[in-house]
Order: sequence, then C-alpha cells, then structure tokens
Amino acid sequence: MKIAPLAAIVAASTALASLASPAHAQGTVNVYCSVQVEWCTAIATEFQKATGVRVAITQKGSGETIAQMKAEAQNPKGDVWFGGTGDPHLQAAEENLTEPYKSPKLAELHPWAVKQSNDSSGKTVGIYAGALGFGLNTELLAKKNVPLPACWADLLKPNLKGEIQMANPNSSGTAYVAIATLVQVMGENQAFDFLKKMHVNVNAYTRSGTAPMKAVARGETAVSISFVHDGVTEALAGFPVKTATPCEGTGYEIGSMSIIKGARNLANARKFYDWALTPAAQQLGAQAKQFQVPSNKATPVPDNAPKLTSMKLIDYDFAKYGKSAERRRLIARWDAEVGGLPKQ
Ligand code: G6P
Repeated sequence: MKIAPLAAIVAASTALASLASPAHAQGTVNVYCSVQVEWCTAIATEFQKATGVRVAITQKGSGETIAQMKAEAQNPKGDVWFGGTGDPHLQAAEENLTEPYKSPKLAELHPWAVKQSNDSSGKTVGIYAGALGFGLNTELLAKKNVPLPACWADLLKPNLKGEIQMANPNSSGTAYVAIATLVQVMGENQAFDFLKKMHVNVNAYTRSGTAPMKAVARGETAVSISFVHDGVTEALAGFPVKTATPCEGTGYEIGSMSIIKGARNLANARKFYDWALTPAAQQLGAQAKQFQVPSNKATPVPDNAPKLTSMKLIDYDFAKYGKSAERRRLIARWDAEVGGLPKQ
C-alpha cells in the first residue's frame, strides 16, 4: 500500500519548510516499511523532525517488499527497508539486493540482533524480536463452546472448522515464520501434513501478516496464527482478544532493517539506519502500540511486550530458513500442496 496522504503531507510541509529551513538541503530518504502503518508514520515524522531529511514511506508486507526490490533491482527506488520478518531480509542479502553497512550503533545491540548482521555479512541487522502464536477471540470461542487452543495440535480439531485465519507466505513474512516454525517443530513432511489438515479449518489466507489478528479482534474469525505482540495491540484497543504460544514450542522473528543496494540517497539511508537503532527511535514502536522487544539494550522493553523468556521458544535456525533457495522452496511447496487445495 502506498501511503499517499502521508507522503503528500510530508512533501507539502517540506516544500513550505524549504523556503526558510534547511530541510530541503537535507534531501530525502525513501523507506520501505514492513511494520504496521502507525509505527511507519511515527518514524517518518520523528526522523524528519530530528534531521530535516524528508521521509517518503511505502508500507508493504515483508514478502511483498522483497518482490518489489527484486523488480526494481536495475533501477532502485527505495533506500532503506525498515522492519518485517528477518528471513526475507537475509534472502535479500544473499540475492545482492542490499548493501553492507557497519553502524556505530551495532555495539549497543542484543546478540540476537548482531547475529542477523553476522549471518548476512553486514547487510541486515535486527531491530526487534517477537514470538509467533495464536490470536484468540475469547467471546466467539466461548459462544461456540470451544476451549482456547493451547497447542498446534488443537488447530486440527473439527470444532475449529472454518474458524482459523493465517496469512499467505508469498506476501507475508509472518506466514513464512509459521511454516518454518512448524517444519522445525515437527519435521518437514509432518509439518506439511499438518498444514494440509489445518486447511479445512482455515477460512482465508490473507495478504498481510496482521490481517488475521485484526479479523480476530473484529470477531470475523475465532483464531489466528500471528505474532503475539500484535494481539496485545488489539486487546489494549478493547477487543476481546487473548493470545497463546503453542505448547509444542514456537518460533520467533528477528524483525530487521537493510539498506537497499544502489540506494540513491545512501548518506541519508545510513543516517536513518543509525537513528533507527537508537533508544529514542526504538521507543516509537511502543508509542505506536507495537510491542516487540527492541534490539538496543538501552531501549526499555515495553511493559506490554509478551515475555519471550516465559515461552517455549525453539532455537529458530535463521541462517537456514533465511536462505534464498530454502525460502523459495518452502513457499512453492506450500503453494502446491496447501494454498491451492480445495476445501472439503
Ligand atoms: C507486523 C508485526 C511485525 C512483523 C510484520 C510482518 O507488523 O507487528 O512484528 O514483522 O507484521 O508483516 P508481514 O505482513 O510481512 O507478515
């Protein structure tokens, strides 16, 4: 989705400001943004305020953004890719779609965020972490007399027929994390058996990773496969939403940031990148009601952030599942064996 209004407002205000201020002289940075729009808007406003650099935002899911970067590789239009799950950022690094950059802020980050940089020869870095789980509409489940699912196995029960939503892994990094998680928890063939069986309980595979949680909040579906921090956002907005992390174990994302190869505004891209790793910038996530765990050790972890230490997290193999060939193979297998299946 192109956020024309914001870009237009930013452009208009910059045009006015440029008459008297150095904003014009500071130039532009084009940010492809794969977190929720409220956070994208906040970083655009605050970075511009802090530096005078004009920010143009394009918000899209992780899978969609890497597809766009590939399509634009000969004539890059973006400068920085901010947020979205880490696997496609690693794939972009391997496919030479992004530039290495060693930020002076690297030393301030948690080891899991630095590992993302090490796994990509410096072409991406972790900006936040968040665990995968279930979004649950407690009112709908109570009405249907279905106990709250607590395990992956519960998602196969006939009492959830037509009640589950997840995203499509072609466009959504969240959905790819779900598939890679199941493969790591169960083994690949068992994971695809599971996904095929769950298919009859799924009412839609959405384009965006957060759409299923929003559908849970609105009571359009009882259960979603989602990042659990996205459920906190909906619960705080007053919806009857709870989350759970599956008893067999679950995966997590290292939300990442990369500089796009051939960035036309490279100096501003680096300036944005360094700024985005500071505690002041990272706190904008929680202010926009996005409750991931931030990657700078000095950024306060929001009180509402789900506690990763209290979950049964798997040792997600980011290097393996971020490999270009592996990601493409698993998504193609999902398309062939699951996504296109008729519902019985
Ligand atoms: C939401 C989550 C992020 C995640 C992103 C992925 O914004 O809060 O933690 O990285 O979705 O989006 P996608 O559409 O690629 O699944």
